[in-house]
Amino acid sequence: MTGLFITVEGPDGAGKSTLVSKLNKKLQDVLTVPFIATREPGGSDIAEKIREVIIDPENKEMDAKTEALLFAASRRQHIIETIQPALNRGEVVLCDRFVDSSIAYQGAGREIGVEEVATLNQFATENLTPDLTLYLDVDAQVGLNRIGHKNSNRKKDRLELEEVSFHNRVRDAYLILLDKNADRIQLIDATKSPNEVLEAAWTVLENELIKRNLIDTR
Ligand SMILES: Nc1ncnc2c1ncn2[C@@H]1O[C@H](COP(=O)(O)OP(=O)(O)OP(=O)(O)O)[C@@H](O)[C@H]1O
Ligand SMILES: [Mg+2]
Repeated sequence: MTGLFITVEGPDGAGKSTLVSKLNKKLQDVLTVPFIATREPGGSDIAEKIREVIIDPENKEMDAKTEALLFAASRRQHIIETIQPALNRGEVVLCDRFVDSSIAYQGAGREIGVEEVATLNQFATENLTPDLTLYLDVDAQVGLNRIGHKNSNRKKDRLELEEVSFHNRVRDAYLILLDKNADRIQLIDATKSPNEVLEAAWTVLENELIKRNLIDTR
């Protein structure tokens, strides 16, 4: 049995977490199989501990390749403990961020090379690839404004604190990934309202669920 693996991607503040929580409810209502919503980095106890090290703003000395390795390590543990077992049970897995994030943030944002980061992640994931990726596209600055990049009291993680130029490279890398993986990655205009984003995402997702007979259409 193989379930369905869906990921949500996009720059900081694109609305990924907002969409996942809205999809959570909709999926609950219609699916004929169990599903889990999870997120990266994290999604298992060990992976969450690695997450803390990655995002801690105190860890200013962290090397870019160390960061890429920690993301890959956290991802592997998440796959082994959470994602793969659920897929093996035939369930639907909805994951906030996955390998595309590493390619965009570490490969392009940190400029350590998209090919290198892709190769590192092939080792970590043993080529587990999402069946469908919803890419929420928004200009980097718009996303940063939503999360109050420079001017709010909300505690920022280490990556969110990067300059706009970093986030522009991230968004550009996502657009290249989209171009190269047009059969897997679906672009959603994330400048629209949260409900319009949900509607666009649902249209794509529902299609996939119907195709795989995973939806109760009665
Ligand atoms: N479509 C939207 N239009 C305007 N604001 C939005 C939209 N979607 C989410 N927001 C708001 O933008 C902020 C960031 O949203 P959210 O946390 O869902 O983004 P994210 O992509 O998960 O960000 P991060 O990359 O930091 O995890 C929140 O305050 C949220 O309420
Ligand atoms: Mg989020």
